[in-house]
Amino acid sequence: MASSSRLAGLVTLAVVVAVACTLPAASRAQLQVGFYNTSCPNAETLVRQAVASAFATNPGIAAGLIRLHFHDCFVNGCDASVLLFSPNGTAERDSPPNFPSLRGFEVIDAAKAAIERNCSRTVSCADILAFAARDSVNLTGNVLYQVPAGRRDGNVSNFSDAFTLPGPNLTAVELVGNFSLKNMTAEEMVVLSGSHTIGRSHCASFLFKNRERLANGTISPAYQALLAALCPPTSGQLTLVTTAIDVSTPTVLDNNYYKLLQLNLGLHFSDDQLIRDATLLPFVNAFAANETLWKERFVAAMIKMGNIEVLTGNRGEIRLNCSAVNPRSSSTSSSSSDGLIETIFPVADGEIVSTS
Ligand code: HEM
Ligand SMILES: *[C@@H]1O[C@H](CO)[C@@H](O)[C@H](O)[C@H]1NC(C)=O
Ligand SMILES: *[C@@H]1O[C@H](CO)[C@@H](O)[C@H](O)[C@H]1NC(C)=O
Ligand SMILES: *[C@@H]1O[C@H](CO)[C@@H](O)[C@H](O)[C@H]1NC(C)=O
Ligand SMILES: *[C@@H]1O[C@H](CO)[C@@H](O)[C@H](O)[C@H]1NC(C)=O
Ligand SMILES: *[C@@H]1O[C@H](CO)[C@@H](O)[C@H](O)[C@H]1NC(C)=O
Ligand SMILES: *[C@@H]1O[C@H](CO)[C@@H](O)[C@H](O)[C@H]1NC(C)=O
Ligand SMILES: *[C@@H]1O[C@H](CO)[C@@H](O)[C@H](O)[C@H]1NC(C)=O
Ligand SMILES: *[C@@H]1O[C@H](CO)[C@@H](O)[C@H](O)[C@H]1NC(C)=O
Ligand SMILES: *[C@@H]1O[C@H](CO)[C@@H](O)[C@H](O)[C@H]1NC(C)=O
Ligand SMILES: *[C@@H]1O[C@H](CO)[C@@H](O)[C@H](O)[C@H]1NC(C)=O
Ligand SMILES: *[C@@H]1O[C@H](CO)[C@@H](O)[C@H](O)[C@H]1NC(C)=O
Ligand SMILES: *[C@@H]1O[C@H](CO)[C@@H](O)[C@H](O)[C@H]1NC(C)=O
Repeated sequence: MASSSRLAGLVTLAVVVAVACTLPAASRAQLQVGFYNTSCPNAETLVRQAVASAFATNPGIAAGLIRLHFHDCFVNGCDASVLLFSPNGTAERDSPPNFPSLRGFEVIDAAKAAIERNCSRTVSCADILAFAARDSVNLTGNVLYQVPAGRRDGNVSNFSDAFTLPGPNLTAVELVGNFSLKNMTAEEMVVLSGSHTIGRSHCASFLFKNRERLANGTISPAYQALLAALCPPTSGQLTLVTTAIDVSTPTVLDNNYYKLLQLNLGLHFSDDQLIRDATLLPFVNAFAANETLWKERFVAAMIKMGNIEVLTGNRGEIRLNCSAVNPRSSSTSSSSSDGLIETIFPVADGEIVSTS
């Protein structure tokens, strides 16, 4: 039978645990510019070097890296879940919205390898994704912004969760609704769609809807004919053929995307929807008329997107390999106090010890 003093001790311990548990919650989602100033001062430089080196061989990689950050943030938050590899093909990255179109994984791996050599177990893969997207914007758009950091990496990556990503067949109302689920406004949705001023798309993402748009008069007939000629006629052969999303300046982050929409030269049905909706059209017109305005809003929206459902403090972990959850033994996720409490106070997994 427990003595009353032991019981009192347990109560005190429980209070301490409860207080400790509220601390990370209070500082939750507080990302900071220069998060690695002292712990890994070269982190951002090393990412920039990896991105610049990949970009020198393949400028398209910049678009891939921006999209990788978006697809990470919209599924399970910006926690690098999109990078996790699954031996049985059941991770986010294996899902049709991501596979085979998502690219840039090897650039993140190269940046991570360089960083691990310089300061190990310090910089999260989720932050590397955010830095790499920023560097890609710099390289293609002549814009520089600072990225608040301090994200930590998650350990869940689920094939079916990727179906919640907005797809190219969505209507304006659905696009706005899907962004609002992430607390992003209609304007921010239009602003970030401007990313489609760079990069490529696979035939399967636009070919069939564009046939319908032709009948509707919502696509330039010459553009539709060009795309139909480019893409193989049968769906089975569509897998690998791609085209630039912005036919005018496919490697420059400019406002031409919006100008093309005005000319019925939007590639995806979802792109075209931005000019068919009375609330969205004024944003398109404003960004087409003023590139400075768009870039200003774009940077702000990228930073906001980078804050979606982030893990901070002692939640999540700093992955050692961006493609894999840390092995239990080398996990950096459990603090020493968790271990202490488990020793003093054995509990079933997920009862008292779980702080996340
Ligand atoms: C508004 C909803 C959005 C839809 C429906 C959408 C849809 C698509 C589709 C279908 C592709 C082509 C994929 C392929 O077949 O290869 C694509 C590419 C791309 N998307 Fe989006 N997207 C959206 C928003 C965004 C956002 C918010 C960003 C970034 C912040 C973004 C960045 C990109 C980039 C950079 C590419 C080119 C990727 C590459 O070249 O590898 N998109 N998007
Ligand atoms: C890191 O250094 C930069 C430049 O000196 C400064 O702006 C930033 O606030 C610092 N961040 C932190 C978290 O120390
Ligand atoms: C696939 O592999 C993961 C580990 O990566 C495992 O957790 C999951 O149960 C496996 N799923 C199937 C359907 O085999
Ligand atoms: C990290 O890189 C910087 C700059 O290249 C160098 O000065 C520093 O010594 C490196 N630190 C480690 C631990 O490798
Ligand atoms: C891109 O980043 C580099 C390094 O931070 C910086 O010197 C350069 O000014 C940036 N480019 C632009 C256009 O801001
Ligand atoms: C993935 O998510 C779906 C839908 O939320 C769920 O039914 C399924 O059990 C999840 N799979 C895994 C392996 O967690
Ligand atoms: C999000 O898009 C899906 C289609 O992928 C649609 O069914 C759903 O209604 C949208 N959600 C909202 C809240 O608009
Ligand atoms: C959106 O905001 C609400 C209210 O602040 C919050 O409960 C929810 O978690 C947020 N969702 C995302 C995806 O950030
Ligand atoms: C979009 O709709 C077309 C039919 O117009 C269909 O063939 C295609 O598979 C759909 N794409 C997606 C990603 O749902
Ligand atoms: C065609 O127009 C109708 C009516 O405006 C609209 O509901 C439909 O979404 C359009 N389809 C395409 C593919 O543009
Ligand atoms: C374009 O937008 C910028 C940034 O908001 C603003 O300062 C400038 O006055 C605008 N230019 C015009 C011609 O409206
Ligand atoms: C995933 O993270 C949670 C919370 O951080 C932890 O309890 C769980 O053990 C982790 N799972 C794996 C497989 O690492
Ligand atoms: C990282 O993990 C992936 C997936 O398990 C594995 O294929 C790869 O070899 C690992 N990379 C390193 C450098 O260990």
